[in-house]
Amino acid sequence: MANDTYTAAVERSKKLEEDLKLNPKKHRVLTGDRPTGRLHIGHYFGSLQNRVKLSKMGVPTCILIADYQVLTDHDAFDKISQNTKQLVIDYIAAGIEPSDNVIIYPHSYIPEANQLLIPFLTLISNAELSRNPTVKEEIQSAGIKNVNAGMYTYPVHQACDILFCKGDVVPAGKDQLPHIELTRLIARRFNEKFCPKNPIFPETSVLLSKTPHILGLDGNQKMSKSRNNAIFLSNTEDETAKLIKKAKTDAERNITYDPENRPEVANLLDLISLCTHEDQRVIAQHIGEGGGGLLKKTLTEAINEELRPLRKKRAELEKDPEYIRKVLFDGTEKARAMAIQTLDEVRTAMNMKI
Ligand code: TRP
Repeated sequence: MANDTYTAAVERSKKLEEDLKLNPKKHRVLTGDRPTGRLHIGHYFGSLQNRVKLSKMGVPTCILIADYQVLTDHDAFDKISQNTKQLVIDYIAAGIEPSDNVIIYPHSYIPEANQLLIPFLTLISNAELSRNPTVKEEIQSAGIKNVNAGMYTYPVHQACDILFCKGDVVPAGKDQLPHIELTRLIARRFNEKFCPKNPIFPETSVLLSKTPHILGLDGNQKMSKSRNNAIFLSNTEDETAKLIKKAKTDAERNITYDPENRPEVANLLDLISLCTHEDQRVIAQHIGEGGGGLLKKTLTEAINEELRPLRKKRAELEKDPEYIRKVLFDGTEKARAMAIQTLDEVRTAMNMKI
């Protein structure tokens, strides 16, 4: 991505952050996850805590589960429903409180939002779709040989996810910037072409997350389910201890905070710091000659303590599948009401009302 585009995105994100504090009700947050598995502590520190904070500030929040999007790069679809419900459990256990203002739903359940895809596709060229850097990266890293059309068009579908409810804030990392730029482009082109006097769609911005890249327990790549280097919110305390025992450190006994030269040890110290809010250097000093063993013990205790209330809530929610379905159906109903309204405005703008 061009540097000036990135700088502009950072600027927009900063301004947005200020205004969210002053006028939370003026905005709408839209976030989503693909239901490919349970959430891990990378999600927890990277995005979940932020979503909880925004929703508690009173910003209307839509959390969508991108079940259609899973089909673009995953052959397996046997667990989509199960994964969807596990995501809801993770969200609520982490502190999301479903209400009139905070809703959770699968995007496949909102036909009127999906219908926006047809006019939106006509506003974007093939060339624009095929140069999306995030899509290119995903195709490459997943080693997909036969790329389906859904893979190239899912960012347009994502624009439908965001614009059907006129979402103007998407809290996300850098990788989502090309998608949100596309959403803005579609909104602008739609407004200019069909309703210049009465624009329907807002300008959406990314609220860039501040948390550093959380590495997996192998210490050299991003924490992720597919890389087998994650601690899941749903892991037990014993499982957490076992996973951390296997975490990579280095040969030097004395623990110091040196992200440059000791990335694995630094990552474990970062994780402790995220739980205890102590400075990494101070934590390192305490551990010192206690070495990797004490480092891992400290981390295990910190994570287990941080997640204890969440895991307790999680276990209760697991026992109440009817409640989880109710949350999804309530969310779906509210999302559909917004989608029906927006589709009606869109039909009017396109002169298609009969
Ligand atoms: N593309 C996002 C991901 O891969 C998921 C997603 C779908 C999303 N629709 C969205 C994120 C709308 C934010 C807003 O994680």
